Amino acid sequence: EKGGHDYFMLKEIAEQPQAIADTLLGRLSDRGEIVLDEVRLTDQDLRDVDKIFIVACGTSYHAGMVAKYAIEHWVRIPCEVELASEFRYRDPILDRSTLVVAISQSGESMDTLMALRHAKEQKARVLAICNTNGSTIPRESDAVLYTHGGPEVAVASTKAFLTQLVACYLIGLHLAQIRGVMYADEVAAVVEKLQQTPDSLRTLLGRMEEVRELARDLKTASTVLFIGRHVGFPVALEGALKLKELAYMHAEGFAAGELKHGPIALIDEGTPVVCVVPSPAGRGVMRDKVVSNIQEVRARGARTIVIAEEGDEDVRAYADHLIPVPATPTLLAPLMTTVPLQVLACEIAAARGHDVDQPRNLAKSVTVE
Ligand code: F6R
Repeated sequence: EKGGHDYFMLKEIAEQPQAIADTLLGRLSDRGEIVLDEVRLTDQDLRDVDKIFIVACGTSYHAGMVAKYAIEHWVRIPCEVELASEFRYRDPILDRSTLVVAISQSGESMDTLMALRHAKEQKARVLAICNTNGSTIPRESDAVLYTHGGPEVAVASTKAFLTQLVACYLIGLHLAQIRGVMYADEVAAVVEKLQQTPDSLRTLLGRMEEVRELARDLKTASTVLFIGRHVGFPVALEGALKLKELAYMHAEGFAAGELKHGPIALIDEGTPVVCVVPSPAGRGVMRDKVVSNIQEVRARGARTIVIAEEGDEDVRAYADHLIPVPATPTLLAPLMTTVPLQVLACEIAAARGHDVDQPRNLAKSVTVE
C-alpha cells in the first residue's frame, strides 16, 4: 500500500508530479479560460471583489502566504493572509465585496470552518480550496476549487500543499482574466509554465540522494534555521514546520531580511541554515539580497544548505551544501523549492527513529478549535 516506499509520506512526496498534473487537468477551456469546480458566484460577483482574505492553518496557511504574492501581482487586489484561528477574533472588516478564500486539505479544520462561518455572517463571499470532496468547508462555501491530490495518509501535508499552490495560482489567474487585468494569452503562458512543473519535479525527485545523506548528517543538530524572501519566505516556514512536526527538533523559518533585526544572534559555529534562493532571472535584486544574507550567516559560522536554481553557479561559493532545483518562474518556484525540504524533514525524522507518518501529538484532521 505504500507502493514500495518506507513511509506514506515518501509515497506522497513521490506522487506530487501527478497530483499537480491532476489538479491542472481540464482547467483550461477551449477559449483559454480557467475553469473552477463548483462556483455558485457569478463572474460579476467576482468582478465586484475589492479585497481578498485567505484563511487557513499550518501548512495550508503557508500555501496562502504564497498565494498572496501571486494574487496581488496578477490581480492587483489587496490580499491578506491570516491564520484562521486569529481571523475572527480581531473583528476583520468584511462585506459583500470581500472574497474569503479558505484553504483546507481535510475540509474539516475547525479553526478554518469557524473563520468561514464568521465571514459568511458578515456577508463576505467564501471560496474553498479543498482536497476532500463533500467535506464541511466546501459544503458551506459559495464556491469550491478541489485539489486533485488524492487521499493524503501521512499526517504531514506534502502533496496537498503543492496542489493548494496550484489551486491558488488558478484562482489568481481566473480573477485576473475575468477582471480584465490579464489577457487570455498571458494566462495561457502561465498555465503552460505550470504544466511543465510535473516534469521538472520528476527530475528533481530523481536527485534526492544527496538530501538523504545530508539528513543523516543533520540528525543531531540542536536547531535548524530556514531563511527565504518573497515566496521563499513561506517555503522557509514550511521547511521549519515539517522538521518540528516530524523530527521534534527546534527549527525556525525567517524572512531573510529580518535576520539582522534579531535572529542572526542565534547563529553559532556549525548552526545549519537552510537558504531558499530566488531565481536570478526576473528578480535578480532579490536573489542578490538573499546571497548577501547567506554570506552574513556564513561569516558567523553557519553551515549553509542552499536551495538554488540550477545554473546559478555563483551561489556555490557560499554553499556548504548546494541543492539545485529546476528553473521555474519566480512565483511558481515554491512548487520546486519546498520538495527538498519535505524530503529533508522526512529523512531526518526517520534517521532519529521516529514514526514519520504518525508524529506524536498530532492528528490528520484537527476538528477542535
Ligand atoms: C502540517 C499539517 C498541518 C495542516 C493543518 C491544516 O504538515 O499537515 O499543519 O496543514 O492542520 O489542515 P487542513 O489543511 O486540513 O485544514
